[in-house]
Amino acid sequence: MRSVGFLFPCVLLLPVLARAAAGEAASGKPIYNAQCVICHGKTGDGNGPVGKSLSPRPRAFSEGSLSPDATLFKIIRKGGKANGLSKDMDAYPQFTDQQVWDLIAYIKTLAK
Ligand code: HEC
Repeated sequence: MRSVGFLFPCVLLLPVLARAAAGEAASGKPIYNAQCVICHGKTGDGNGPVGKSLSPRPRAFSEGSLSPDATLFKIIRKGGKANGLSKDMDAYPQFTDQQVWDLIAYIKTLAK
């Protein structure tokens, strides 16, 4: 009986975790185009109109080798400075968790 009491909450949690990790690139794209292109560039090459003049330059997603998902999540949510990166990378506390995962999913399509 004890194990049932433990397993039950885990079973309930699983769909929540699976959903959180599964971002929708199609939903992330409009957010990226509205908020991120100015620095990271439309193709994710880091050559957006503002990105061009920054130092260090925005990460070129198109070159691949992105940080692990959990790190990307923290950087988008808390910003570059809080993660030891450039302060030019803003924090986006206004996005829901799902929106951040959607953005990550979209960024990954640019890395291919
Ligand atoms: C004002 C310019 C600017 C804007 C706008 C901006 N970024 Fe950035 N971003 C940067 C810079 C600069 C870096 C690189 C920081 C460094 O390497 O020190 C960066 C780094 C990142 C990284 C880290 C990549 C890695 O592999 O570690 C992620 C993820 C990221 N940005 C996502 C986003 C998303 C998503 C948006 C839009 C919601 C966005 N950025 C908007 C400037 C910007």
